[in-house]
Amino acid sequence: MKIFIDTADVDEIRKYAKLGILDGVTTNPALIAKSGRDIKDVLNEIASIVDGPVSGEVVSLDADSMVREARILAKLHDNMVVKLPANLAGFEALHRVSAEGIKTNFTLVYTSNQALLAAKLGATFVSPFVGRLDVTSTGGSELVREMATIFKNYEFETQILAASMRTAVYVKEAALAGAHVATIPPNVLSDMINSELSDLALKGFLAEWDAMPDENKTLFK
Ligand code: G3P
Repeated sequence: MKIFIDTADVDEIRKYAKLGILDGVTTNPALIAKSGRDIKDVLNEIASIVDGPVSGEVVSLDADSMVREARILAKLHDNMVVKLPANLAGFEALHRVSAEGIKTNFTLVYTSNQALLAAKLGATFVSPFVGRLDVTSTGGSELVREMATIFKNYEFETQILAASMRTAVYVKEAALAGAHVATIPPNVLSDMINSELSDLALKGFLAEWDAMPDENKTLFK
């Protein structure tokens, strides 16, 4: 499964890019606003840090304006992927920009039928909002499982990008359910990496090492 980071904070992106675990980045209008920076600057900087898909989202509500913004976003960098919302105008815009070869991330997806239609229209990614679905009802991970079955049944090339990963458990469940990608906020990536048990065991090993005589530690001198 590919790992994207879900943030517009370039310091956090740099921190995890250094580990070699990032395959891409997703942003949304709220995350850009949180960065406190101009959208053009922040997307360009993100694309210079991570060599992989970078999602930027349109902010208009009518199809013509979405198509216009999609073209602007796509021109920023070869790796740009345009996020379009799951609504009537979003489907029309998806249809139109797919024909232009613009890479897309059909976002705010809450049902398998929305995903099926987006895949038929050639979306590059579809983003089920797993965590948000669980907040209002249940079945976020089940939604990913359904989508994986549907995409397999019809050999769609569209990738399932599990989004709204609010805990590390969601990431594990997305992987088990067959998501191609999970986009993960920095705090959840941190939870995936660190374990108090690992730290405790390491502390025990090093205490015994420290107690060993110096003449037996020549390798690292
Ligand atoms: O970027 C889209 C999505 O991952 C948002 O997550 O935590 O705001 O539901 P969240």
